[in-house]
Amino acid sequence: MVALMRETHFGYAQVPLADKQALVDGVFHKVARRYDLMNDLMSAGLHRAWKDALVTAINPPPKGRPGRLDEKPDRDFALLDVAGGTGDVSFRTIEAGGTGTRATVADINADMLAVGRERAAERGLDDAVTFVDANAEALPFPDKSFDAVSIAFGIRNVPRIEVALAEMHRVLRTGGRFLCLEFSNVDVPGLDALYELYSFNVVPAIGRAVVGDAEPYRYLVESIRRFPRPNAFAEMMRAAGLRRVSHRMMSGGIVALHSGWRL
Ligand SMILES: C[S@@+](CC[C@H](N)C(=O)[O-])C[C@H]1O[C@@H](n2cnc3c(N)ncnc32)[C@H](O)[C@@H]1O
Repeated sequence: MVALMRETHFGYAQVPLADKQALVDGVFHKVARRYDLMNDLMSAGLHRAWKDALVTAINPPPKGRPGRLDEKPDRDFALLDVAGGTGDVSFRTIEAGGTGTRATVADINADMLAVGRERAAERGLDDAVTFVDANAEALPFPDKSFDAVSIAFGIRNVPRIEVALAEMHRVLRTGGRFLCLEFSNVDVPGLDALYELYSFNVVPAIGRAVVGDAEPYRYLVESIRRFPRPNAFAEMMRAAGLRRVSHRMMSGGIVALHSGWRL
């Protein structure tokens, strides 16, 4: 199927909605073990800065300062990181927050979750992070159960984005914040052509060298092109019930950080 879809530059756009999830699952099954290394190589380490901005916006309650008995104790804070893969955003949030910070990684791919569980154990974070096999379109959590819900480089892989947005809004507590980090549209003259060249040539080549297959990364690059522009995505967030919707572009538009609140 994949070979057939390569016929045109945007051939993957032809994948019927019903087949899209299976295609995405195959991609992440193939890359799970090398996913974190690939992230560093393909973004030249930039994904770390983008995720730092995301964690700053998630804003977990800070660590209490030792010896300051008058200081309020850390409050509990629960993050749900949807399409959380190998747990990177959750680990960063827990490390940035105080002792009451907890995270749940929900992902549809058992291979990505397995790598995440190993990483959590290596970092001594297994008590603070829970890994759950879950589809973003049908989250197995009660209404209003999280202080923040994040999704990083995941929403464009979900077949029915509007269903996932409604689910993420449902599980967010009133006053909680939804944050979405996603690739966007480079509109800086000169950088756009360079980015196009990099995405369609360098990224699949790195994929071939490290994972042994360029195809998964060709698919990922194409999915970026098809994802709604920031204003259109903002409308989808509002339609899901989110309020005070905003976004900010980073790195010349390579990535957008979208934000909305449940009020
Ligand atoms: C590019 S990775 C991002 C992983 C992680 N958020 C990060 O930034 O490192 C995309 C993830 O989305 C997951 N995914 C794809 N479709 C999903 C769905 N319908 N529900 C939940 N997770 C999904 C994949 O399994 C994969 O782990």
